[in-house]
Amino acid sequence: MATLVENPLVREIQTRALKPAGPCAMVIFGITGDLSKRLLLPALYNLATHGLLSEHFALVGFALSDITEEKLRETLAGTIREACGSECNLETIRWLVSHLHYVSSDFETASGWQKLHAVLDQVEAAEDLAGNYLFYLATAPEFFLPLVRRLAAEKLLDESGGHWRRVIIEKPFGHDLASARALNAELLKVVQDDLLYRIDHYLGKETVQNILVFRFANGIFEPIWNRRYIDHIQITVAESVGVERRGRYYDHTGALRDMVPNHLAQLLALTAMEPPASFSATALQNEQVKVLEAVPPIRPEECVACVVRGQYTEGMVSETMVAGYREEPFVDPNSQTETYVALKMAVDNWRWAGVPFFMRTGKRLHKRNTQVVVQFRNAPLSLFRRTGALPPRPNSLVLGIQPDENICLEFEGKVPGPVLETTTVRMDFDYGRHFRVEHRTGYETLLYDAMLGDRSLFKRADMIEAGWSVIQPILDAWAAGRGGELDRYGAGSEGPQAAEDMIHTGGRAWRPF
Ligand SMILES: NC(=O)c1ccc[n+]([C@@H]2O[C@H](COP(=O)([O-])OP(=O)(O)OC[C@H]3O[C@@H](n4cnc5c(N)ncnc54)[C@H](OP(=O)(O)O)[C@@H]3O)[C@@H](O)[C@H]2O)c1
Repeated sequence: MATLVENPLVREIQTRALKPAGPCAMVIFGITGDLSKRLLLPALYNLATHGLLSEHFALVGFALSDITEEKLRETLAGTIREACGSECNLETIRWLVSHLHYVSSDFETASGWQKLHAVLDQVEAAEDLAGNYLFYLATAPEFFLPLVRRLAAEKLLDESGGHWRRVIIEKPFGHDLASARALNAELLKVVQDDLLYRIDHYLGKETVQNILVFRFANGIFEPIWNRRYIDHIQITVAESVGVERRGRYYDHTGALRDMVPNHLAQLLALTAMEPPASFSATALQNEQVKVLEAVPPIRPEECVACVVRGQYTEGMVSETMVAGYREEPFVDPNSQTETYVALKMAVDNWRWAGVPFFMRTGKRLHKRNTQVVVQFRNAPLSLFRRTGALPPRPNSLVLGIQPDENICLEFEGKVPGPVLETTTVRMDFDYGRHFRVEHRTGYETLLYDAMLGDRSLFKRADMIEAGWSVIQPILDAWAAGRGGELDRYGAGSEGPQAAEDMIHTGGRAWRPF
């Protein structure tokens, strides 16, 4: 999706590879919501700007707000302008919103569905969409199953006419392993699995996809990507924001459920997976599931040593004093919900036996940062120990995901001068600077792939369940009162001291972010 202005070869390859998606109507349930306004509409605009939407395209919104189609067009044009900045193309925005239609209704009201059928018939006649419909469930999770059941009952998932029908389902997919399994089972009673596109927007990020390219398009890293050369791996997903308007939802969810079975498990799977036999969706997904299935369950007695739960108190973030979690709107003033979690995990297979995987995620940390750090083992012999130089530090490879999109290899070099001194130096690749990547939301690739019917970057039922399996033993231990204490950390810090202690026990340290 990047616009490549500097490298003519890459630009040529990209232009050859990309073609507009086929004709379709995209129906967004929840079009007036935050996700649609902030991310989906700007992503559709970016696709249109690059000529990747079909000329035969219609956008149909379905939501509760009692507003006119005209008003919604105006509002969404404004949110796209805001998201895409001063250089946005007003003509493309006008084109996009002129293809927008709106059904204002409760999801459960029959007249709303009659209107949806009428609108789909109308756009079909006007735009020649070949009967292809992409449904996007941008709604609260309690609507996922009722909406899919309703779509099936309305015969909107019937592909017998030779057209395609697809449903994108947002996260959270379940709130534990049992509910995720139940949701998968119930969905599969009314729809074939290959129509379901379970989304994890992390997979839409270029730098997340680049982990695969980095690992499997380069010969030099694969031989050392294993327990013989790697000491440990750290995965950090740090947020500087608090719970914002999501206090009610978050207080029943917490950091472990909200981030680990999806985003962190995804980063873990891509970092640790075996090379797939091909680049097909099935081959890629098979290898990712195998990694998550190789994570041994954390035993209740390990929950104190291997899991840290934290909650933020008030503090300074970006020079602004912010409230503690318990003071946030819609949060229980005595809440025990964790806003931070750090875990020590293992992947029990031949490649990774004995290599710890440390993962941490939290809100109101001092800055936003997502990174994977591969920390290599020390050199076998410290040759420079008698020269007075400091002992060399182990090499690390840092895969920056956001906001810094980069890859950085750190190694030891000689400080210039007559005395033999060593220091750590860096070799940096900056993704954004190299490719001149413009603003994008991460949803562009995913929407485009869904329109093409490519499920490689979406989650299969077993991947979702494998993600939940990783954390279910911890949820069970916490529910049985076997979790550690809730450690409070100041907003604007790097997290609770207990997380530092956890990693220091093995003589290691978190990489500062
Ligand atoms: N927001 C994000 O950044 C984000 C990121 C990742 C995943 N997600 C997931 O995306 C989904 C949507 O999140 P969101 O933040 O956009 O939620 P939201 O702002 O609360 O939007 C919910 C949407 O559903 C509509 N709606 C609610 N009840 C309805 C009903 N009974 N009948 C018809 N329409 C109804 C609302 O319509 P009205 O506004 O007209 O009432 C609104 O359009 C959630 O599953 C969330 O977990 C969100």
